[in-house]
Amino acid sequence: MGYHAYDPKIYQKKVERIDDPIFQNYQKEEIRYIRRNIENPKQKTVIEIGAGYGRGVKRLARIGKEVIGVELGDRMYDALKENVRNLNNVTVIHGDAAKLSSLVGNVESPAIVLLQNTVGIFGKDLNKILLEMKKVAEEGRGEIIISAFNSCSLRAWGVPIIYKKAQDVVGENDPEKTDYERGIFATKSGYVSKWWTPDEMRGMAELLGGKRRELCVNNYYQILHVSYSS
Ligand SMILES: C[S@@+](CC[C@H](N)C(=O)[O-])C[C@H]1O[C@@H](n2cnc3c(N)ncnc32)[C@H](O)[C@@H]1O
Repeated sequence: MGYHAYDPKIYQKKVERIDDPIFQNYQKEEIRYIRRNIENPKQKTVIEIGAGYGRGVKRLARIGKEVIGVELGDRMYDALKENVRNLNNVTVIHGDAAKLSSLVGNVESPAIVLLQNTVGIFGKDLNKILLEMKKVAEEGRGEIIISAFNSCSLRAWGVPIIYKKAQDVVGENDPEKTDYERGIFATKSGYVSKWWTPDEMRGMAELLGGKRRELCVNNYYQILHVSYSS
């Protein structure tokens, strides 16, 4: 899976505003989960990896003490910087999550979050990025929250509804490469996103370790929560 560069304006119009009630509820639910479940939010530095143009960061800024948005894409980063310029508790970093620990240094009490199935587009860098997240979260006695799509809905919801509506962002489905058994969505222009079984999410939890683990699952999405606080 190669890196896919998004256009922030088209992304906001075609993804954030997808007219699907389940998707809209999902976007609210992942933020609500963070607000209700992170420990001592007003003492936390929330680090959003793959922050895009700032959809999540704007909301996370009202939850945490500080927020750091990390974004790799050039145009997404420029839009992110612009969109948070009036938020005085937000810092943005233009860089690759595979180098997270050197990008953010030591962060006391971090809550590292991956929203909107960003975990599905890391491809071969997935484990490297998860281990970088673990390193930063463990050292700062913080937590990790990963919000991801459930692969059992890729066939009936993901491909025909969500990715169809977001076609201007991701490209046209490639039925030769999309693989429902493995939870892989692929397009003719080379975009690839992995959707997950609950067992695969448990596998991520094993890799991350930590003291407390929650995995909230419904047919469409799942939220994994790991804590390293003592
Ligand atoms: C699915 S979008 C989600 C955007 C945003 N989190 C949201 O929920 O609206 C994933 C974002 O992750 C960024 N990204 C992909 N790989 C990355 C990496 N290795 N490091 C940092 N950002 C990355 C992409 O450029 C994109 O903006």
